[in-house]
Amino acid sequence: MEKRILLYLLICWSLASNLEKSMAAKTRHYNFEVGYIYWSPDCEERMMIGINGRFPGPTIRAKAGDTIVVKLKNSLPTEGVVIHWHGIKQLGTPWADGTASISQCAINPDETFVYRFQVDKAGTYFYHGHYGMQRAAGLYGSLIVDAPDGEEPFRYDAEHSLLLSDWWHESVQAQTLGLSSIPFRWVGEPQTILINGRGQYNCSLAHFTGETSLCKITNSQCAPVVLRVLPNKTYRLRIASTTSLSSLNLAIGNHKMTVVEADGNYVKPVIVDDIDIYSGESYSVLITTDQNTSSNYWLSIGIRGRLPKTQPALAIINYHPNSLSKLPSSKPPVTPQWNEYSHSKAFTYKIVAMDGTPMPPAKSNRQIALLNTQNKIDGYIKWSINNISLAVPPTPYLGSMKYGLKNVFSAEKPPENFSEDYDVMRPPINPNSKKGSGVYKLEFNSTIDFILQNTNTLSENVSEIHPWHLHGHNFWVLGYGDGKFKKSDVAEFNLKNPPLKNTVVLFPYGWTAIRFVTNNPGVWPFHCHIEPHLHMGMGIVLAEGVEFVSKIPNEALACGITGQKLRN
Ligand code: C2O
Ligand code: CU
Repeated sequence: MEKRILLYLLICWSLASNLEKSMAAKTRHYNFEVGYIYWSPDCEERMMIGINGRFPGPTIRAKAGDTIVVKLKNSLPTEGVVIHWHGIKQLGTPWADGTASISQCAINPDETFVYRFQVDKAGTYFYHGHYGMQRAAGLYGSLIVDAPDGEEPFRYDAEHSLLLSDWWHESVQAQTLGLSSIPFRWVGEPQTILINGRGQYNCSLAHFTGETSLCKITNSQCAPVVLRVLPNKTYRLRIASTTSLSSLNLAIGNHKMTVVEADGNYVKPVIVDDIDIYSGESYSVLITTDQNTSSNYWLSIGIRGRLPKTQPALAIINYHPNSLSKLPSSKPPVTPQWNEYSHSKAFTYKIVAMDGTPMPPAKSNRQIALLNTQNKIDGYIKWSINNISLAVPPTPYLGSMKYGLKNVFSAEKPPENFSEDYDVMRPPINPNSKKGSGVYKLEFNSTIDFILQNTNTLSENVSEIHPWHLHGHNFWVLGYGDGKFKKSDVAEFNLKNPPLKNTVVLFPYGWTAIRFVTNNPGVWPFHCHIEPHLHMGMGIVLAEGVEFVSKIPNEALACGITGQKLRN
């Protein structure tokens, strides 16, 4: 009897607390008008893609459980557009994931599309274009989700956000053309690293002294970023990277950082001098302003993994009541050498889940190995996965799979493995690859392991970093290793405290293993987050539980074969 009463009380309590949560949840409305703008992100004026006439786009800020509604009007005169909400799972709304040719049709010039989705989990996220290389043209902004009141596990007094990106003076159209030309024209290294959309081309702020500045800060669009702080407080820095190419390292003079969040997941606090951040990742760190208050301090951002030809980006930590133009008394921290991979690995391996994070299933139902290679197709340089370079079809996968349309994408099953004798330390013996649009169909509610395997590129002694991003899910990072993955490595997987992430680095000549559960009906890309790499085919498409997807809004289907069906 008593047990039954207890159960009854428990049910009432959980109903009430759920009700409380849903009553507190808000719908937050935004109007985004996407168009070309003249802007000077690094003090040199160029054409960019902006939102509401500005760059970067507006920050979306919400509380976990809220619904976001973004009415997006495409005012680009001659090209389509979509926006992806990076790190948001889109549970129940796969058509709002904002991937052209995958979740929806690109929005035509002058048309409007309404993105409506729930942000279920607190964390540091961002959004960006996901059509062609529009992200590299400046189409991005921050998306920050606060924890419900009283549920933030870390204490801090205030926060600052840093959205990191890299910027080229050459237009994205020219970059895109170069990548698909013979001879191949690589985009090269960025001219400037931007912090919150601001940088200073070819000038180090370290020489910045107001009137005698070597940097001509011609306008506020490229003004140095200043983080104002009060002494003896704890600040949360939300750091996200939407770089097109660059892997970055961030350090603050005289201040240690405590990492507490990665990709919207709490991690076991770890104290570091500097952090590495790859494109598609986000971190929160806590800093305490306990240093000599008569000084300001530098925050430096340098490039990792590629011989840098770009000045480090600098921002100023401005201690109250110092003037913000007071130059820090110590030099900017020097970020590690670009090729000091042991430093990067040491940092990456330190990131583990906070106690209480959901554990991965002990075994997977299916293991898929993905060999990342650089190849040639008819003389064009491409990236391939298991020797297939992704080329998405004109009709989006989600609609065509949901409605069982034939001949929209390749019916061929993409390979789950690669030949055992592939030498990952050498350029490919046969560099020829082919284009493909096949889908990895995954059983709903099953556990999948992906083993990402890096290789040598087409050039001798070169292997690059690839940060892989999965849409629609978080995954557990089970392990990393050097060289070729061996069956016996499974025994070494971290099943104790693997971090949950949505983006993970694949180191040169190494492998990375992840695990996730296919619990989100939809069609989801898994791809390298380096914009030119994705454009050159470095990704795959997954589908799970598409039969459980509810009615897809017509606006998402209004192109290709689904568009024809709508009109008939
Ligand atoms: Cu932020 Cu498919 O990417
Ligand atoms: Cu890549």
